[in-house]
Amino acid sequence: MDTRELIEKALEAQGKAYVPYSNFRVGAALITEDDEIFTGCNIEISSYSPTLCAERTAIFKAVSEGHKKIKAIAIVGDANFTYPCGVCRQVIREFGKDAKIIVANSKDEYREYKLDELLPHSFGPENLEEANTRGGKNV
Ligand code: THU
Repeated sequence: MDTRELIEKALEAQGKAYVPYSNFRVGAALITEDDEIFTGCNIEISSYSPTLCAERTAIFKAVSEGHKKIKAIAIVGDANFTYPCGVCRQVIREFGKDAKIIVANSKDEYREYKLDELLPHSFGPENLEEANTRGGKNV
C-alpha cells in the first residue's frame, strides 16, 4: 500500500465522521508493521470531552485487534493540512515511534513527516522501562 492509497482510505474514513457539534470532519488510515490497514474518523459526543479524534479511533482499532506497531498513518481533515493534535501525537509515539505521518489535503497534495519532527524530545515507553531497570534517577 503506497502513500496515495493510504490517503484514499483516510478520505473514505473522513466520510464517516460523526461531527454534529464542530462539523469538522477528520479521517485517518494507518498501516501496521504486518501490513494491515485500519481506518478511523472523529466521533463527537454531546458532553464534548469523550470526543475521539480520527487518529486515535484508527490506532485503538488496530491495537485492540492485536496490531501494536504502526508503519505509517495518513490524516485528512477539513482544514488546509490538518495536523494531528498533541494528544494524538503522543498516542502515535506509543505505537509508532518511527512512523511516517502523512498530512494530506488530497492524494496529490500531502506532506510527510517522521514523528520526531512533530513531537521532538518525546517521552515514551522506553523511558519508563529504562528508569524501572535502573531503579529510578534518585534512588
Ligand atoms: N480532530 C481530530 O479528529 N484529529 C485531530 O488531530 C484534530 C482534531 C477532531 C476532534 C473534533 O471532533 C474536531 O476535530 C474539532 O476539534
